[in-house]
Amino acid sequence: RLLIVDFGSQVTQLIARRLRELNVYCEIHPFQNVTDAFLREFAPRAVILSGGPASVLDEGSPRPPASLWEMDVPVLGICYGQQVMMADLGGEVRRGGTGAGTAEFGRAFVTETQPSDFLRGWFATGPEGGPREEVWMSHGDHVERLAPGFEVLAVSAGAPFAVVADEGRRRFAVQFHPEVHHTPNGRTLLENFVRLAGFAGDWTMAGYREQAVEAIRAQVGEAKVICALSGGVDSSVAAALIHEAVGDQLVCVFVDHGLLRKDEGAEVVGMFRDHMNLQVIHAEEQERFLGALEGVSDPETKRKIIGGLFIDVFQEQADRIEGARFLAQGTLYPDVIESVSFSGGPSVTIKSHHNVGGLPETMNLELVEPLRELFKDEVRALGRELGLPAHFVGRHPFPGPGLAIRCPGEITREKLAILREADAVFIDQIRRHGLYDEIWQAFVAILPVRTVGVMGDGRTYDYACAMRAVRSVDGMTADVFPFDHDFLSETANRIINEVRGINRVTYDVTSKPPGTIEWE
Ligand code: XMP
Repeated sequence: RLLIVDFGSQVTQLIARRLRELNVYCEIHPFQNVTDAFLREFAPRAVILSGGPASVLDEGSPRPPASLWEMDVPVLGICYGQQVMMADLGGEVRRGGTGAGTAEFGRAFVTETQPSDFLRGWFATGPEGGPREEVWMSHGDHVERLAPGFEVLAVSAGAPFAVVADEGRRRFAVQFHPEVHHTPNGRTLLENFVRLAGFAGDWTMAGYREQAVEAIRAQVGEAKVICALSGGVDSSVAAALIHEAVGDQLVCVFVDHGLLRKDEGAEVVGMFRDHMNLQVIHAEEQERFLGALEGVSDPETKRKIIGGLFIDVFQEQADRIEGARFLAQGTLYPDVIESVSFSGGPSVTIKSHHNVGGLPETMNLELVEPLRELFKDEVRALGRELGLPAHFVGRHPFPGPGLAIRCPGEITREKLAILREADAVFIDQIRRHGLYDEIWQAFVAILPVRTVGVMGDGRTYDYACAMRAVRSVDGMTADVFPFDHDFLSETANRIINEVRGINRVTYDVTSKPPGTIEWE
């Protein structure tokens, strides 16, 4: 296994993600924990030193334990990791300033000065197929003099030590970040490194599952774990994984707020309880939520009411589960980065998001977050690995406040019933046409207006609805899905014919920004 020593870079997890893509097993450990004893025990086959915000010139700056340099293992230093390697092994690092080789931020181009196994195939794969490669630099300090035994393999205009190596000892160091998106072919370097370190690349999601199960058992012991199951992919996969680890020590609570899609409550509970044998408490609190929402039409007020009640209900249920010590959450890596880098920032609240992430503040429970290192697509892969049905794992995201935010204006039971039917027809159309997996999210919103229509020989006066379907990578920005006209008119016909209460159908063609994906 490979050890990543984390010196606090914002992108350390991306190193792990790239290695998983290369089917190499790795673990990230914060530098504080990596002692001589830890290293001996861990016995890494290779080590990567991450970037980080510190300066090796500061007193007490973070370093790996000295015994690392006595071990015969390949080491790759990235950014701060490069500076650590140089400083520890007898080179020299200087503070930034101006001029070649000093502080650099952003895009740069690297050229090869000496062929090596570490850089093999990198330049040939460049965007121009030419002799230079695009990289992402982000450093204040710089290497001034190489440590003995090292030589330069590649340079950039601003970095005479962009890539350096002591090939005999299999030590490599790069000034830039090969793990980020902005270093388009950085994967080649990581791949060369793991091959030089002797990894076969045969580790898979099945391996992740085994390792995660062990870790959950070690954390939880004999105690009970509770989990708020939303029916979404993240909490579902987290629950399935924890169940595999500790069986009936896990109790799930599914809060039914009456704002779910057609048949959703029964499907989720049925699958987890009957199909997967989990203990699931189905908290049927529809009346309580809908009662509290009566007469409310302001979007933020709706969200606050739902979020607050959700916590109350969950807490009541949790209080009845004796001996609960842990709270399971399906937190993903992107949630972790966002909450770290944006909390307290100057950004404006567009919507107060509600999800199970709001729970622990009010509860005295330790967190179990087995998906913290994964990205969405990896969670889906893990879900399939755990035996969740593919159609379930591939479902579109569904917001915590549910249909409430797809029903602008006042929420009534009548409107919700109409909305459920219309939404089901739209999704059925999308599935029939084989478009479901091409779309990030699709749904119907019911509009707070009635319009006049004519059906048969009669006048109708019914609700209008809007279909919405978008393509997106992360939900932060979105494009409208370009259905063809035949699809749109066929679907509109079906909705009007099959759903009583709707006599007009529109297609929302607003991208995000300026629109948001949901209507509220
Ligand atoms: P917006 O509407 O802000 O939505 O463009 C972006 C993505 O987030 C989802 N969404 C939510 N998810 N709790 C959630 O768990 C919420 O309160 C919430 N509000 C919006 C939305 O469905 C889309 O995928």
